[in-house]
Amino acid sequence: MVAESLDTQSLDAAAPAPPIAESDRSPARAPFDDLASDWLLRHLLDVDTLSRDEILRILSTANAMAEVLERPVARTPALRGVTVFNLFYEASTRTRSSFELAGKILGADVINVSGSGSSVEKGESLVETLNTLAAVGADAVVMRHPASGAPWLAARTIDGHIINAGDGQHAHPTQALLDAYILLREFGDLGGRRIVIVGDILHSRVARSNIWSLTKLGAEVTVVAPRPLLPASMTAGAAEKEHPLSLPNVRVESDLDEAIVGADAVMALRIQSERLSGKLLPSSAEYARRYQLTAERVAQAAPQAIVMHPGPMNEGVEIAVDVAHSSQSRIEAQVSAGLAVRMAVLFLLIRGGA
Ligand code: CP
Repeated sequence: MVAESLDTQSLDAAAPAPPIAESDRSPARAPFDDLASDWLLRHLLDVDTLSRDEILRILSTANAMAEVLERPVARTPALRGVTVFNLFYEASTRTRSSFELAGKILGADVINVSGSGSSVEKGESLVETLNTLAAVGADAVVMRHPASGAPWLAARTIDGHIINAGDGQHAHPTQALLDAYILLREFGDLGGRRIVIVGDILHSRVARSNIWSLTKLGAEVTVVAPRPLLPASMTAGAAEKEHPLSLPNVRVESDLDEAIVGADAVMALRIQSERLSGKLLPSSAEYARRYQLTAERVAQAAPQAIVMHPGPMNEGVEIAVDVAHSSQSRIEAQVSAGLAVRMAVLFLLIRGGA
């Protein structure tokens, strides 16, 4: 379990009546809604502004949501009467489907709007689209957009709760939260744990948000990439490193074979060809030779090390097929955890006090 155990009683006040678990019968337990009673964050735009306690609070609420998912009828009315829009201007399988399911399990009305097939194709601006969603009653908008910063504009534009489901190459907070959930479930505490993130760091919103959350949780993060795939703040001098937009301090390596020795977890990232401007790499074969997560390389990590990948994967490029499907892989578990974590985020933001 992640962090302390939490209560799930009374979430189902008006739900179909699944058998009540013994753990839910205790009169000492607070109502489920109390989980959100003193939650004050209105939006989830990134993890950089979350405190360690706020991160752990989301993850412990995800524990409560995971218990709900184990019930015979995994449905609750916790967000009944709430309307959530999934506004996706970029492709997604995992994030979009898990937010949709999360909202539906919590009893919300969930409406999917994508760039293609909507009035965006007729030239409607993001602001106009947001105003339209607000006008039809959006309580929350989960948005993915290719422009870094778009969710911050959304939060200034409408009254509803905004959840960033990935903005450009900037941030992907719920991915970082679900990754932290998996790591805490595995290790209990991340203090001093060595986590290696290898791949296209430059274009990766997953890497950025993970660096924030994992360092806040006490992990020692090493990023590994060929120099053209590192952000300037990781390759340039101290002046750039002290820039207010810089990431927290991490170890930067170009040699995966050195960096992986003794690591507790290794996270591979896809080369984001859609964001590459010009040719930054000689070839994917050469990249795979130096940076692919192979069984031989994983064998150099700690004996209990786990392998992660946010997906989508290019098996045979950044990760070998046998590693992706090995007993050390937590890649499917990451996808599953996304549901409970996204339920927790929707619930806390919408039922919290802000
Ligand atoms: N990890 C992730 O964001 O996957 P999707 O693009 O499928 O949502």
